Amino acid sequence: MLSPLLLLLLLLAPPPGSPLPLRLPPLTSPPPLPLTYSNPTGALLTPVRPGLYLAERPFYPSLPGLASTDVSCKMAIAVLPSGRLWLHSPVQLTPALAAALAALGEVAFIVTPNTEHQKFAPQWIDAYPGARSYACPNLRPADPPAPWGEFLRPGAPPPLEWEGAIEMCLVPESVPGVGRSFFNEVVFLHRTSRALLCTDLYWNYPSSLPSVPVPRSTRLWKFFMDKPYRAIYNRILADRPAFTELLEKKVLGDWDWDYIAPCHGEPVEEDAKGVLRRHLNLV
Ligand SMILES: [Fe+2]
Repeated sequence: MLSPLLLLLLLLAPPPGSPLPLRLPPLTSPPPLPLTYSNPTGALLTPVRPGLYLAERPFYPSLPGLASTDVSCKMAIAVLPSGRLWLHSPVQLTPALAAALAALGEVAFIVTPNTEHQKFAPQWIDAYPGARSYACPNLRPADPPAPWGEFLRPGAPPPLEWEGAIEMCLVPESVPGVGRSFFNEVVFLHRTSRALLCTDLYWNYPSSLPSVPVPRSTRLWKFFMDKPYRAIYNRILADRPAFTELLEKKVLGDWDWDYIAPCHGEPVEEDAKGVLRRHLNLV
């Protein structure tokens, strides 16, 4: 006989194959890609809000011991007022993804938002020589030398060519005693969709998904990120009180948004600012 708790969990669990929340109807049906943990809808491009799309893909970090752990990544694609495309945190470029984007608009801007999400940017910069590319401040030199066209400057306004559609903010954090930032993360606001775009400032790795299982190695990674790492980030890496002041005043204050499009995890719509505030121990 089922216990009342198990019965309740079964009743609350979404049925297999049910659509994931916080996404708009798919562009194509059936989905062209296999359903995976990283891409739970199997879509080439996932529309999430008007003028905002995600490319949901696997991501295997280069860090030792993580080469076979899919931490997943969502590249955000924002449509600017001119119809040109602004890309945030590129995932692997494939001919099918390039074709899907070509149907959407011209790839004009390629943004590498922090030092850990640079892996695939060179592919895009090579493939779209007419696009302008940007890196977070002080991106560590790569070998061969990094191909980024320009660096985003701390405290500077967003580039004019972004058509006033995107705001940006460098997150104050650093490694104590080392004298440099850990991620150099720049977070962005896409005004049209009222979405916050972040890379590693916020995450919410799911422990389960309605359509596909979450790999065991990914669940272990989720535990590491949710428990020890989040505590380390909030207590040691975040440059308090400057971190708190800037996040509260600008990102959570001046910026008008009600949706989080994270690189790692599921989009957030309900109480989005409260979710970010609690994640960063700002309450
Ligand atoms: Fe990341």
